[in-house]
Amino acid sequence: MTGRLRMSSGLVLFAYVVTHLVNHSLGIVSLAAMEAMLGWVHPVWTSIPGTIAIYGAFLVHLAVAFFALWERRTLKLRPLEALQYLLGFSVPFLAATHVAGTRINDSLLGGDGSHYSKVLAGLWYAEPLNGVAQIALLLFAWVHVCIGLRLWLRLRRWYETALPYIYAVAILLPVFALLGFVAGERELGAALDQDPGLLASTLASRALPGVRPLLNDITWGIFATLLGMTAGVLIARTFRRHWQRRRGVSRITYPGRRWIDVPHGFTVLDASKMLGMPHTSICGGKGRCSTCRIRVLAEPDALPPPAADEQRVLHRIHAPPNVRLACQLRPHGAVNVLPLVSSPLIGRDHAHRPVSADGGERELVIMFADLHDFTRLAETRLPFDVVFILNRYFHEMGQAVETAGGRVDKFIGDAVMALFGLETASECACTQALNAARMMFARLDILNSALADDLDAPLRMGIGIHVGVAVVGEMGYGRTRSLTAVGDTVNVASRLQTLSKTYGCALVVSDKLIAGAGLELPGSPSHELVIEGRRAPLGIRTVAKACDLPALRV
Ligand code: FES
Repeated sequence: MTGRLRMSSGLVLFAYVVTHLVNHSLGIVSLAAMEAMLGWVHPVWTSIPGTIAIYGAFLVHLAVAFFALWERRTLKLRPLEALQYLLGFSVPFLAATHVAGTRINDSLLGGDGSHYSKVLAGLWYAEPLNGVAQIALLLFAWVHVCIGLRLWLRLRRWYETALPYIYAVAILLPVFALLGFVAGERELGAALDQDPGLLASTLASRALPGVRPLLNDITWGIFATLLGMTAGVLIARTFRRHWQRRRGVSRITYPGRRWIDVPHGFTVLDASKMLGMPHTSICGGKGRCSTCRIRVLAEPDALPPPAADEQRVLHRIHAPPNVRLACQLRPHGAVNVLPLVSSPLIGRDHAHRPVSADGGERELVIMFADLHDFTRLAETRLPFDVVFILNRYFHEMGQAVETAGGRVDKFIGDAVMALFGLETASECACTQALNAARMMFARLDILNSALADDLDAPLRMGIGIHVGVAVVGEMGYGRTRSLTAVGDTVNVASRLQTLSKTYGCALVVSDKLIAGAGLELPGSPSHELVIEGRRAPLGIRTVAKACDLPALRV
């Protein structure tokens, strides 16, 4: 419930901030353009529904923030969360002066702030310090919004693909707003230079006489209320902690006999943070990602049953009964737990990885390449020769994949599995994979020429490529852990590669891949592949020779 309230109120505030920034940006065009947009935005936000929406959202968001501060058992936060909290709590303080000087002045005291020139004159000439505070407000609010949206959306399938556009908007909008703010002042300043009396009359029309002291009192009242509420929650937290310690503590024990006593009511994730125990929690403890899951090894009686939200997530991941979400589980007594999603590996340079190591779904192109009849060749050759030939082959194939922009996922026997699209959009990945296939066959021809004296017959290869959603993450054990992909798309690509033997062709690709690369391939036969569990068959194409493929521009 709090998550939904936070998100819906946040989205209303987001809309308000965006219209504000866009309106500021129009200063780059002219002061008249700013005024024109304000002319239709101002009535919307000052109408009764608009006022209820914006003030309601603000109050709900603030209340949810205080509630979260109260609910949070430990103030040990991850850097991004800490920054979001800090910026979020500074926004109402910075906004107090602005709200008192514009909205309260206009709506309650009869002032008229619906003109940009008056607001700009006030911020640039009458109260320049306040102008600086308003610029800080604009930036703080925007960064707070961006972090919130990132935490909300980053688990979405399309997020990685949309990231360049999101970054562009996130950076350009406040930059344009600041430029507009400065450009608006330039234009206003030029007008004021020509008419020395204009500044005084502009500022005088901004507020009714004698109202300024009242506005100051209101601003200080808002400050005092916010400070009082913040201090009240922090003091209440301290009392609660003492009270809970007197009521009893739960001992949470981790592998390696590490343990911590936490007051009843703390979650296992809170306990991990207090202990300094690495514990993955991608959604920040909101019960959405399941990465904080733990296996309860002993004393399951100390556990309350999962609530509906936790139950839903556990059901989604088909968790057995002794697996729970650490961020939702508040033990009544001692428990032994084992975090199930490793975090030391995830923690390192996680932010720099284009694909989340802890698992996520995304659209990928999967390629399988396999040497035909290699088993027979291996049986008739000395082991040294087999290793030599395979290593030459793997080298050539690896080079082709990487040159095309893909990544060799693994070598399985004489097969190669490669991934495309870990760092690029799906359409680009389709093109890269087809280019890789063409280069792989070209390199195989060169290799066959080089090994002509060592081989009874040239090496022959079949490739299968498919595009679709796959689960990507770090998998394996110990040093064998690596980023790889699993799922239906991988299985289908492997099956297409096997079909290359059936059809006696070089390449089998899905129609979806061809469409993704924007190709026609009119001469290649179409087939339909029935896949168990799918209602419609999968359309596929066979390509007899890889040299039939055109070189594609990425
Ligand atoms: S941290 Fe995401 S579900 Fe617990």
